[in-house]
Amino acid sequence: MFFRSWLANPLRMGSVVPSSAALCSRIVRHTARADDEIVLELGAGTGPISRALLAAGIPADRLFVVEIEPTMAAHLRRTLPGTHVIEGDARELDRLVPECWHGRIGTVICGIPLVLLPRAEQRRFIDAIERVAPGRGFPHFFYCATSPLPLRTHRLAGRREAWTPLNFPPASVWRYTSVQALPAR
Ligand SMILES: C[S@@+](CC[C@H](N)C(=O)[O-])C[C@H]1O[C@@H](n2cnc3c(N)ncnc32)[C@H](O)[C@@H]1O
Repeated sequence: MFFRSWLANPLRMGSVVPSSAALCSRIVRHTARADDEIVLELGAGTGPISRALLAAGIPADRLFVVEIEPTMAAHLRRTLPGTHVIEGDARELDRLVPECWHGRIGTVICGIPLVLLPRAEQRRFIDAIERVAPGRGFPHFFYCATSPLPLRTHRLAGRREAWTPLNFPPASVWRYTSVQALPAR
């Protein structure tokens, strides 16, 4: 299913295979949530990270996943019982995530291949995340050695928190937070 989706839309998928167990465990390590908060995963694909989060103890009803590809969203609904699977475009998060959870999101995990998008489009994702999880920042994984997002352009602070060669392709986990004081360039 993953490979078929990649053939149909390589830029939107960004990878030919799902994330490995090694990458998922690194992402889980960088996910935090208070008791009254949820975890929000963007671009869940076939759900390897979602399953790792559940295995690590995130209660199913506190996990929200957003996926734009209808076949994958249907697969997630079948295979992740009890979680909130939202089929839709993560650029519209404030409409997709019920308002009662806005500001009560411990971590937003971004698995969407932002590096492949024009900067204006990247900005739409960053703003969408900021609207539902203000000031939280977000972990984002991708396969390049340098930051997938241009920091100054988007007024972000970014730090590489993890790297694993045990993924195809080898992947890094970055954490981004907004730095409103930085002048844009
Ligand atoms: C690199 S794959 C990651 C899949 C999965 N999280 C994993 O680690 O294997 C990127 C996923 O983001 C989804 N995606 C791309 N653009 C999206 C958007 N605007 N809104 C929601 N999901 C999107 C794709 O359909 C794909 O499933």
